[in-house]
Amino acid sequence: MNTRINTRIFNEFPLLETERLLLRQFSLDDTAAFFGIRSNEQVMQYMDSFPFENHNQARQMIEQMNSDYSQQIGINWAIQLLHNQKLIGYIGLWKINYENVRAEIGYSLHPFYWGKGYMKEALHEVLCFGFNQMNAHGIEASVNPNNRASIALLKKIGFSKEAHFRENYYFNGNFVDSLIYCINESDF
Ligand SMILES: CC(C)(COP(=O)(O)OP(=O)(O)OC[C@H]1O[C@@H](n2cnc3c(N)ncnc32)[C@H](O)[C@@H]1OP(=O)(O)O)[C@@H](O)C(=O)NCCC(=O)NCCS
Repeated sequence: MNTRINTRIFNEFPLLETERLLLRQFSLDDTAAFFGIRSNEQVMQYMDSFPFENHNQARQMIEQMNSDYSQQIGINWAIQLLHNQKLIGYIGLWKINYENVRAEIGYSLHPFYWGKGYMKEALHEVLCFGFNQMNAHGIEASVNPNNRASIALLKKIGFSKEAHFRENYYFNGNFVDSLIYCINESDF
């Protein structure tokens, strides 16, 4: 049983590879592609966060993600297609909770690439990393109850619903519900 997060994962950024994808660190060269994802209305529909309006916001978030890695708070990967090097999305283990040996996961893909099994492939690889290299005991996701695609993906990969918080998130003048889905190392 994992009882302590392995901080050696912060010695060198962990590159992950699957059959079709490379998961790598973001760089500022990704600003335009990342902006294309975070400014897309379909992507942002259930994210309870405003779409980006300019490249500067994308640049700042890339810098934040890389600074989180340096500070050993989180790891965010750019998801790139192996065959043409295109950046199609991102996935991250953030809010690493050292005390309780857990982390939160988040992800998005550009809609052009939805429904092709890419996120299932990336998520499976990141969970392998989370449980076998980072040594998390549990990983959780917070999802808007209307986000059917994300809920379907989490269930397919073995997450189960552990909480429904009513109106616990204030966004854009409304209180929004959150579902918490979790997976523990023994479930994976
Ligand atoms: C959630 C998201 C990443 C899913 O990515 P995806 O690559 O389309 O998902 P996959 O193709 O890997 O599908 C995984 C499983 O979920 C199911 N699924 C995907 N989209 C679905 C949908 N709209 N409705 C029902 N099931 C869906 C698929 O059937 C698949 O199962 P299968 O392999 O047995 O067919 C994508 O919709 C997205 O980026 N959404 C916007 C950002 C977002 O909401 N992020 C999550 C915040 S919590």
